[in-house]
Amino acid sequence: MDIDQDVEPSVQRALFEQVRRHTGIAMSERKWTMLKGRLRRRVMALGLPDYRDYLQVLDTNADEVGDFIDLVTTNETSFFRTPRIWEYFAQTFLPQWFAAHCGETLRVWSAASSSGEEAWSTAMLCEEFRAREAAFRYAIVGTDISDGILASARAGSYKGRSFEGLRERHAALLQKYFHSDGAQADVVDALRAHVVFRRHNLYAAPRDLGQFDLVLLRNVLIYFDLEGQRAVLANVRRAMRPDAVLIVGESESLSRVTTGFTFEQPLVYRNGHSREERDHEHA
Ligand SMILES: C[S@@+](CC[C@H](N)C(=O)[O-])C[C@H]1O[C@@H](n2cnc3c(N)ncnc32)[C@H](O)[C@@H]1O
Repeated sequence: MDIDQDVEPSVQRALFEQVRRHTGIAMSERKWTMLKGRLRRRVMALGLPDYRDYLQVLDTNADEVGDFIDLVTTNETSFFRTPRIWEYFAQTFLPQWFAAHCGETLRVWSAASSSGEEAWSTAMLCEEFRAREAAFRYAIVGTDISDGILASARAGSYKGRSFEGLRERHAALLQKYFHSDGAQADVVDALRAHVVFRRHNLYAAPRDLGQFDLVLLRNVLIYFDLEGQRAVLANVRRAMRPDAVLIVGESESLSRVTTGFTFEQPLVYRNGHSREERDHEHA
């Protein structure tokens, strides 16, 4: 039985629609080979004859939606991805924030945290800063839409490429912030005390996440269309303190999306009214 043969365009479209409905991710026909590659094994495992029947399962069985989301999301990430952003965080953002917010707790949101490397990278640099500034306090919230990937983030246990990357490029941090047997690294409790992971769909209002000083919204906007990006950015902005900073991914920019962010440097934006918004308010 070859379930990939002659999949009707209407079935393909209906599956793309399910992806959009549950994640907001916009896929065009060009993504069909990738999507069916991801769903194929699941459809076979359920003993279904084709993707049409899988659509029915998705419609009638709410439990299947979680597995579907795990399969259709792309979770690629790494420790200290895009090094210049981490230099900015350690050398510019943290000292400036600390000088301006005496006695407060820095709150960072790793929005679309995937398997957690971004949140743990943030925590390591915060710990390094705290070693120099004992009064510094911080809390990190990592969120993602995929329960499967959040389980990995919470486990904080890394092998393979993530582990190799740490060992090759950040050996001192690996030794300090992980228990390692040479093939796997487990985050130490000192970091865990500052980081929580929660499920959150970026299309939903972030009502119970609190307010943040820094939001890392990296390598996720690329999966949404322009309208989706606007909706997500408006939601994210609601969870940002007035002067908070937003960092996006390397192939992302807010230039085509009208928002209340001002450009600070490549990939870095500050929450604050744009000149157009100010002019509008004073008109
Ligand atoms: C490529 S990873 C980016 C991970 C990390 N931010 C980085 O830059 O390395 C994209 C993540 O976005 C998550 N995602 C996709 N759609 C989402 C949505 N609507 N709400 C929240 N997370 C979403 C996926 O599950 C995936 O883990």
